Amino acid sequence: MRFLLLLAIVVVPAASAANPVPYSKKSIGQGRNVYIRHCAGCHGNDGKATVDVVADATDLTNPKAYTGGTSDDEIFRSIRDGRNASMPAFASQIRSETDIWHVVNFIRSLWPEAQRPALQPDPKD
Ligand code: HEC
Repeated sequence: MRFLLLLAIVVVPAASAANPVPYSKKSIGQGRNVYIRHCAGCHGNDGKATVDVVADATDLTNPKAYTGGTSDDEIFRSIRDGRNASMPAFASQIRSETDIWHVVNFIRSLWPEAQRPALQPDPKD
């Protein structure tokens, strides 16, 4: 089972990977927990980066401010690999890719309503 999973991860080309985690309330909540722990220090609890710890941290509530792209994949990559010199890579701190996808969903929930994805029902697990 674990082997099959690994195989699936290797076979799916990174560039075309869409967000496998539905944009649901549950996912947004899980993403928020990870965000508060790892990201709020620079981007603020509300994502607006008004705390000025790092003066140039992106206002995450404004997709127009992103220079690395606003697709799920691009946001995922910014988090996993970092962005320019001042946005750290989180691949070694947030080891579960699913958790990174939850954070992507949380970040999208901060956007103006018209730009948010449609809310999906929580997966029944
Ligand atoms: C040490 C401070 C710091 C921490 C911690 C941090 N960031 Fe950032 N982040 C930045 C800075 C600074 C930028 C702007 C980088 C640039 O564009 O030069 C940025 C940019 C971004 C961007 C926008 C990239 C783009 O397209 O322009 C996203 C998305 C982002 N951060 C998400 C996160 C998430 C999610 C976390 C937590 C997992 C996080 N950041 C933690 C400082 C931080």
